[in-house]
Amino acid sequence: MRVLLHTGKGGVGKTTHAAATALAAARAGHRVFLLSSDPAHSLGDSFGLPIGSRPTELAPGVVAQEVAVLEELERSWSEIQGWLRGLLRDETDDILADELLVFPGLEELVSLRAIREVEAMGEFDVCVVDCAPTGATLRMLRFPDALRIFMESFFDLKRQGARVLRPILDRFREGLVPSEDLFEAFERLYSDIDQVQRILRDTTRTTARLVVNPSRLVVAETRRSYAYLCLYGVATDAVIVNRVLPEEARRGYFARWARREQEEMAEIEASFPVPRLQAPLLPREVRGLEALESLAESLWAGRDPAERLTTEEPIVIEKQRGRVRIRLALPGARKEELDLKVRGTELFLRVRDASRCLALPDSVSGRALESARLEDGVLWIEFA
Ligand SMILES: Nc1ncnc2c1ncn2[C@@H]1O[C@H](COP(=O)(O)OP(=O)(O)OP(=O)(O)O)[C@@H](O)[C@H]1O
Ligand SMILES: [Mg+2]
Repeated sequence: MRVLLHTGKGGVGKTTHAAATALAAARAGHRVFLLSSDPAHSLGDSFGLPIGSRPTELAPGVVAQEVAVLEELERSWSEIQGWLRGLLRDETDDILADELLVFPGLEELVSLRAIREVEAMGEFDVCVVDCAPTGATLRMLRFPDALRIFMESFFDLKRQGARVLRPILDRFREGLVPSEDLFEAFERLYSDIDQVQRILRDTTRTTARLVVNPSRLVVAETRRSYAYLCLYGVATDAVIVNRVLPEEARRGYFARWARREQEEMAEIEASFPVPRLQAPLLPREVRGLEALESLAESLWAGRDPAERLTTEEPIVIEKQRGRVRIRLALPGARKEELDLKVRGTELFLRVRDASRCLALPDSVSGRALESARLEDGVLWIEFA
């Protein structure tokens, strides 16, 4: 099943384009599931139809759902959270504890579990996702690293400890030691998250479409998001430039806006090494099936939106004459914002405030890092 993520800064048109893409994909003959993972759901508003937490058929070939995140979270996380809070305060470093306790990105991850459920139904070819604004999506991608460290370093120890202590302490007062159910729930959640992450990082299945507006702040933020998506191994295969002033509006009152826009269009072209699609600023809000169909037609014009629009991979590992090099697209990143270390079999990479531990292939692990260069928005890392 193909997965198309729609992400971008707040208010740029993510929901609108997710909806239009779903309609275009259905028109291309796919069975489409349209999923909103943004806790502030607005797919229903966009279609002008009620959509709930149960799959609802919206148009021929399009079924939609808005995941009820709070309910889901309540179900799978609140108990675990209480247990973790006590545990982490005492025993791990502060950053890890904060990241796990504040659960940045957890809401988004919990709702993205729905992608797996959609896939398991086996009835859909394409899952179009209307994501929360970029910040949340990125936090969601980074959450599992913290969880993995916790799993690998503490989980088994805690569980064994609990098995030993429970029969003794339960005699005094029950509930002093976390129950086996709790460990199971935690393990299940971890495995769910791991599977979602695999889907998102599987570049043959999943690609992100970044929605931007031709304005300075939006472009700057989106450039950072693009780099973060690459860092976390999610492929971006298109940028949708939304709300471009149409020809007839580029004179008179809007002439200066039009000039500014021109500059931003050049900036967008230089910033994103992927295909760009353009949608005009329409004279009114895009609401309802008819308006969305017409936007879909103008953007996709008979093309299949489920196709992968570029073969660019976020992270490439190449071998050449006995040397191994890793290539990572990080548009807009500056040298002083990067930090890079090899630790055993992992490459630790930090770009501004985002970091990732990348498992190195066997062919590289144990070798010395020879050089790292940042050139035209691409980071090259070479091993001896
Ligand atoms: N090309 C366009 N022309 C005119 N109006 C548009 C266009 N694209 C989107 N809109 C309108 O802009 C508003 C915001 O769009 P939308 O809800 O899709 O943004 P969003 O990125 O999903 O926002 P949020 O971050 O709040 O989820 C909506 O009222 C929508 O109808
Ligand atoms: Mg939205």
